Amino acid sequence: MPGLNVNFAGVEFENPFLLSSAPPTKDGTQIKRAIELGWGGAVTKSLLLVPDKNTRPRLGFLKLGKRMIGMSNIEMATELSLERWKKEIVIAKTPGAPIIGSIMTDSDPENWVKLTKIVEETGVDMLELNVSCPHMSPEKHMGALIGQDSALITLITKNVKENCSIPVIVKLTPNVTSIPDMTIAAKTGGADAISAINTVLSLIGVDIETGIPNPSSQGKSTFGGYSGPGVRPIALRVVAEIAQTTNLPISGIGGVDSWKSAIEFIMVGATTVQVCTAIMWRGYKIVENWKKGLQSFMERKGYRSLNEFTGKSLQFLHPFSDFKTEPPIKARVTHADSCNGCGICVTSCGDGAYNAITLEDSDVAIDDQICDGCGLCVNVCPQNVMTMG
Ligand SMILES: Cc1cc2nc3c(=O)[nH]c(=O)nc-3n(C[C@H](O)[C@H](O)[C@H](O)COP(=O)(O)O)c2cc1C
Repeated sequence: MPGLNVNFAGVEFENPFLLSSAPPTKDGTQIKRAIELGWGGAVTKSLLLVPDKNTRPRLGFLKLGKRMIGMSNIEMATELSLERWKKEIVIAKTPGAPIIGSIMTDSDPENWVKLTKIVEETGVDMLELNVSCPHMSPEKHMGALIGQDSALITLITKNVKENCSIPVIVKLTPNVTSIPDMTIAAKTGGADAISAINTVLSLIGVDIETGIPNPSSQGKSTFGGYSGPGVRPIALRVVAEIAQTTNLPISGIGGVDSWKSAIEFIMVGATTVQVCTAIMWRGYKIVENWKKGLQSFMERKGYRSLNEFTGKSLQFLHPFSDFKTEPPIKARVTHADSCNGCGICVTSCGDGAYNAITLEDSDVAIDDQICDGCGLCVNVCPQNVMTMG
């Protein structure tokens, strides 16, 4: 059987599936239950010097028909005191499943040092610096407000590193102009690893009857943090950019919702993946199937360890200048028998591309002289009638 175990920044995990800092890790009992169900480790909900208070409700949803695509939250960090967390970490600790303490405070390095020392003493195996939540306490200069300032990332990482003896992960925000700059800032401060992404600053929707944006609480709303499958394309790009910038180990986060999407993160350079929204929607037990799926994939491909395909996709990422702009490729009708005559290809190509497709009684044809090879028809066709060739 291929092994799922990984070494992440010097710490051994039995499998790469970790719980991210969020409601599924809100206390020790929850973390312990998840680990017993097969998760490789957990990042605690973000710990503070003084606990936060939450508003209710605090979640908004984006749906495509009945299917949920993404979620926005306006939740704060932990509501539990540090005294209480000392006990929660003892409850959470399970042999073979490292616990990562997420910490968060304002931009004063002294406060980071204070928090670092207290949290390291609880017995956590690693620290994760939350310099990335987009919506929490901007007036206190916390979260993404730190993570958007490369000098502050370096200063805080350096102060934390000089005051602890366990590995330090810096959790980056996608809400910046340059991921490479923030990655280099974390590395300069001495980070042992990078995790990304935290949520994407968003406004997930508006109730058009009242005009109040979602999520709303007490008749008001605010910009929230977007998570779930909808953010995965952003998260994959960010993880790939980090991997292109540094050889520090990476924990990939953002819309991991299956063993397949976990593999995508591993292939763009992640050693571990972290999960929140998929657990909030479907529960801790999803990991059982994910481990089986990952293992079968590895068996089928002949991989004995995750290292053998970590970062595999990076070699295929090129600057746009490396592309020929007019390669000789066209759409082809390859499964004409499957055409049900719905006409979506004709409409899409006609109004959104080059008007190269005609349809008569389920007989679809592509004019080679007009087809531009953009690939739109192949992807909108519900019957997979066409391929690029
Ligand atoms: C309700 C909620 C609360 C969260 N709280 C925290 C937090 O306290 N600290 C933190 O670093 N990230 C927090 N996150 C962000 C997640 O850890 C994760 O980075 C993000 O949701 C993307 O992953 P996902 O798509 O698997 O949810 C929170 C996310 C959600 C949805």
